[in-house]
Amino acid sequence: MQHAELDTEPETLQDREPKTEPDTAPDTQLNTALNAALNTAPYTAPPTRLQTESQTATTFQCPRSNTVYSLAEASQYDNMRSPFGINEILRELRPDSIVLDAGCATGHHAIIMSNICQFVYGVDKNQDHIDCAMRKTNIRANVKFVNADICNLSCFEDGQFDVILVSQVLHHLVDKGDICDESKNRSACQSAISECARLLKPKGKLILITTSLYQRQQSYHFFQFFPETAWRRLRSNWTLTETEWFSALLRTYRFRLSACHTPSDSHWNETERSPYERCLDPSWISTDGAFALLNEAEFSHYTRSIRNDSTQNDGVKLARELEAKRRSVGEASVYVYTLRDELDTII
Ligand SMILES: C[S@@+](CC[C@H](N)C(=O)[O-])C[C@H]1O[C@@H](n2cnc3c(N)ncnc32)[C@H](O)[C@@H]1O
Repeated sequence: MQHAELDTEPETLQDREPKTEPDTAPDTQLNTALNAALNTAPYTAPPTRLQTESQTATTFQCPRSNTVYSLAEASQYDNMRSPFGINEILRELRPDSIVLDAGCATGHHAIIMSNICQFVYGVDKNQDHIDCAMRKTNIRANVKFVNADICNLSCFEDGQFDVILVSQVLHHLVDKGDICDESKNRSACQSAISECARLLKPKGKLILITTSLYQRQQSYHFFQFFPETAWRRLRSNWTLTETEWFSALLRTYRFRLSACHTPSDSHWNETERSPYERCLDPSWISTDGAFALLNEAEFSHYTRSIRNDSTQNDGVKLARELEAKRRSVGEASVYVYTLRDELDTII
């Protein structure tokens, strides 16, 4: 489906509200399945156009875009980032699933998913991320990484995927200079959702991971030190997926919300240092695109405020408070949508 007119049905935002209670129960069934899959792992590579190309010589020539990420960031990303919501994602996969991780970064979700399903493609427009993902997977035959823009995935066939994961990507689609331009954000987002609808099989699953404005305010300590000017400027980008417009967009492309989880996971895999220390570390900062959106004065305000706060408050106590916030509000939510087939639409 190409860019369709959005319908104007009344908002169903409550459908997208995260559950108040985050999911904390261990999924033992899932772990058993995962371990079994890790021990066997037979698969048949799916027939696709990409299949004939080698892992290192892809024919996709997406121009290097003006991403918000610095070149130094790819290697740091792996050290510091943890694959958020992985249990909730794995629940949606089957051994015969063909999966696309759209905006895969260095492939941490894709690699875990490839342990339990037939084939995983990861695409990202940042070539450094793709290079890093490829280095980690050069001996795996059922995962492939491609430098491509999720707003135009013409390299893939219609109805090729059972599951598409879009994790923390939709607010990053436009170039840094356009980040406050609501119409460009919406247009890019519509292109991405339209591509997901085209690429999914009927009844396929679209898994969206997004952070609400409330989660950003509550569960991310460092965002509280962004000055008001930055919050005002970035608000429309940060609320993009919470709008009526976004709900209508999903309905227009025949997506029906089938599950919503708010895991208590963290996006970061390190806990031992003080949150103050971490939030001033340039390597850590390089893993979050939001920092690249601050101007020089705003970034100075940020570092000054963190330093001031750290002289007045106890880092250990703050870490505990943050952990509690993360468990009650969540850093992000996992929304699972099912693509209705034509018959569903008529009924
Ligand atoms: C915050 S990271 C999230 C990465 C990963 N999905 C995760 O959850 O950890 C956003 C990623 O989206 C990628 N990205 C942004 N816009 C994109 C686009 N138009 N096409 C493909 N990837 C894009 C960035 O390069 C970056 O790797």
